[in-house]
Amino acid sequence: MKNSFSRAIHLRDYRAPAWWVDEVELDVSIADDGHAEVAATLSLRRNEAVPAAPLQLDGEALELLALAVDGRALPAPASFVRDGRLELADLPARCRLSTRVRIRPDLNTTLSGFYRSKDGYFTQCEAEGFRRITWFPDRPDVMSRYTVTLHANRERFPDLLANGNRVAEGEEEGGRHWARWVDPFPKPCYLFAMVAAKLDRLDDTFTTASGRTVDLAIYVEPGKLDQCGFAMHALKKSMRWDERRFGLELDLDRYMIVAVGDFNMGAMENKGLNIFNTKYVLARPDIATDVDYMNIDRVVAHEYFHNWTGNRVTCRDWFQLSLKEGLTVFRDQEYGSDEYSRAVQRIQEVRGLRAAQFPEDAGPMAHPIRPASYEEINNFYTATVYEKGAEVVRMIHTLLGEDGFRRGMDLYFERHDGQAVTCDDFVSAMQDASGVDLAQFRRWYEQAGTPRLGARTAFDAATGRWTLTLEQSNPETAYERRLQEEGLRFERGPLHIPVALGLLDAHGREILPTTVLSLTEASGRFEFDLSAHGLKAAPLPSLLRNFSAPVALDYQYGDSDLATLMAHDSDEFNRWEAGQRLATRLMLAGVAQVQAGSEAAVPDLFVDAFAAVLAKADADPAFAAEALTLPSEAWLGDQMTVIDPDAIHRVRTLFRRTLAERLRSQFEALLVRHEVAGAYAPEPAAMGRRALRNLALGYLMTLDDSALQLKALSQFRDADNMTDQFAAFSLLAHSDTPLREVALNEFYARWKDEALVVDKWLAVQATSPLSDARARVRELMVHEAFDLKNPNKVYALVRTFCAANPLHFHAADGSGYAYAAGVIRELDPVNPQVASRVARAFDRWRRFDDGRQAYARRALESIRDLPGLSADVAEVVGRALA
Ligand code: TRP
Ligand code: ZN
Repeated sequence: MKNSFSRAIHLRDYRAPAWWVDEVELDVSIADDGHAEVAATLSLRRNEAVPAAPLQLDGEALELLALAVDGRALPAPASFVRDGRLELADLPARCRLSTRVRIRPDLNTTLSGFYRSKDGYFTQCEAEGFRRITWFPDRPDVMSRYTVTLHANRERFPDLLANGNRVAEGEEEGGRHWARWVDPFPKPCYLFAMVAAKLDRLDDTFTTASGRTVDLAIYVEPGKLDQCGFAMHALKKSMRWDERRFGLELDLDRYMIVAVGDFNMGAMENKGLNIFNTKYVLARPDIATDVDYMNIDRVVAHEYFHNWTGNRVTCRDWFQLSLKEGLTVFRDQEYGSDEYSRAVQRIQEVRGLRAAQFPEDAGPMAHPIRPASYEEINNFYTATVYEKGAEVVRMIHTLLGEDGFRRGMDLYFERHDGQAVTCDDFVSAMQDASGVDLAQFRRWYEQAGTPRLGARTAFDAATGRWTLTLEQSNPETAYERRLQEEGLRFERGPLHIPVALGLLDAHGREILPTTVLSLTEASGRFEFDLSAHGLKAAPLPSLLRNFSAPVALDYQYGDSDLATLMAHDSDEFNRWEAGQRLATRLMLAGVAQVQAGSEAAVPDLFVDAFAAVLAKADADPAFAAEALTLPSEAWLGDQMTVIDPDAIHRVRTLFRRTLAERLRSQFEALLVRHEVAGAYAPEPAAMGRRALRNLALGYLMTLDDSALQLKALSQFRDADNMTDQFAAFSLLAHSDTPLREVALNEFYARWKDEALVVDKWLAVQATSPLSDARARVRELMVHEAFDLKNPNKVYALVRTFCAANPLHFHAADGSGYAYAAGVIRELDPVNPQVASRVARAFDRWRRFDDGRQAYARRALESIRDLPGLSADVAEVVGRALA
């Protein structure tokens, strides 16, 4: 057997390419039988900066028909191909290489490269899909100008699209037509896109800050034009925002978004021709929830922002992925904060980081935001690269301030526009523009793991001196252990951690406004002279305000301190955080009681603290909805040495029911007070009220009261928007009453023709706490609504069950694991990228008891032993078992 690292690619092996490709001419002809022929001519130029070397091109699933250099055909083209590479030696320093290949988009279930979906043909080239279209140096540091000619049947595929501008089109024999596109900007091949389809189009225009009018277009499945207005609105808002906040204007005459129902990820920023999962385009009040609207807003913005951070300045190699993703996520987060409530956005981001990234750091797939090695790059589109990457950019923003950060961005573009660069180049621009020393800060790019930040305080009432001692520790992760095995030496050291601090007095009044401390050593002492405040007792620290660093904070807050922070901290994030801390602590104590055989109890202090939040809920309903949401079962499990999913579920349910019993009238009053009048609009204020109201309904539904259940049923039936309908639907579908089947049947009957709503129907069943959840999920695999080839369906049903139903995925009898392994084995040959994402559900397996571990190991081994297992799944499963 191969050793498990034999496939690894290392950052230290990076070499500049020996050949540049200045121009690419592609001629793509889609035949009526579903295959396609791609003729490519590459204008090659030797890279004089590196020693001469043969030309190496990547290719996958290509049938090579012809090969020529400067017009002279080379006989036996296949003889130049070895191990997926086409190698040509002794080429003149400048030449034109032509290839002709046949590809099979109709048979391409991987959704990488060129593939068929319902309404036509689409591409996905990031990270390494372009090699499935033609022979090419498929690496992001090779940037070229593209001219693309598409040919297809006119009737079936009236829309022929590629990056840039359409410069010519015409008719052909046999009912066919063609169109030629030229992209004025050089780009790496991962940003290439083309579409041949029959779609409807929503047109609009936008006048940029400098007064240029550009054409905007969103292409969707025929009949869905009424579902793309919001995405267009979001696009225009994003364009304006990037002009205002970063001085960045669209550089194209035409910007297109194409929505496709079969897509591995959320969306793709191909230059001037974004391709989107329908999930992040289509919306109408009756089919999309507030959360869907918000996600569409953010994803449209994200892909648009990539036009500068990603496309104009791109990545030198895939180890630098966070250069574009971390920065672009930071930008879309800031956009969200400017558009909606800044505090609520921050809370949701941190909740997401803790739900996905902290466990990643704690598990077998741990890696820094710039990994030193990988086996399959598709496995590194992770919470670490994206979300922790954004946190790292945010810390730079915190250290430099808004003005310093903006100067850094300006310098970054001044230096690197049109280039493929590294994370170091980004940090250097930030440092040079601001004068802030970021030398030590760079460790965030190479060290994996969630640092622990310990804090101790001392107060001398006589002198008014208050001392804060901070200590960081950076526990070793699976990543360092692997690097060692790979023989890669590397030293860990203290990180530069910005710690935002505020101080409150005993009444909750602020005595020290937010101050950012820099912890750069393993431990640091910070002294404050508070004598002017005449404090009798020690001040109450509000640490890590706005979550100023992606760390786990250890500080011994007393329960009543947390209640004070919940009620009074001027930092909204920390008001929320204090509630989460208190709830986590008390719920974990409850879990310990349950494990010891007694019943858990909910302390009065906790009920009172939540009642106080509830009493102030009207002032900021969106915030209150977050503050009244208890920590998730997964989060509680992550805090335990050995995760006990049954006890956790039991305790969380008890806490929810107790709060509902004790605060029933308050929750009922919210239902009445926050009824939103008038037509649905995805506006922040109304969204907050709906969130709070539906949260209240959720608490009330724990009471098993038939009057309340009927209330939920009427909301489910009568709501004029999906937010309210779906909230009531999920509650009913998770309740052990006859209304459950009523709701499930009615919802499906009503929405079975709306694919994205069917996904919600599947996901709700996948997250059911009821005892038949796993059996139901298995049944749904053969339901007409399910399709293993469609990523949205797999994510909605399978991945949701595995990742968001800890109670049943981690069932003690191993049934959840066996089910997941079966699906992964079946899915791997169909779509390895999606199979690999599902397989990540096993990341936590060693955190459970021996019985569960034995089942999980067996499940993982059954995947590992699958003949022909993809590199994608092999890497994830290999690491899990290592
Ligand atoms: N670059 C895309 C983004 O905006 C991510 C992406 C889309 C992707 N499709 C993909 C990554 C397929 C890997 C494979 O974040
Ligand atoms: Zn992105």
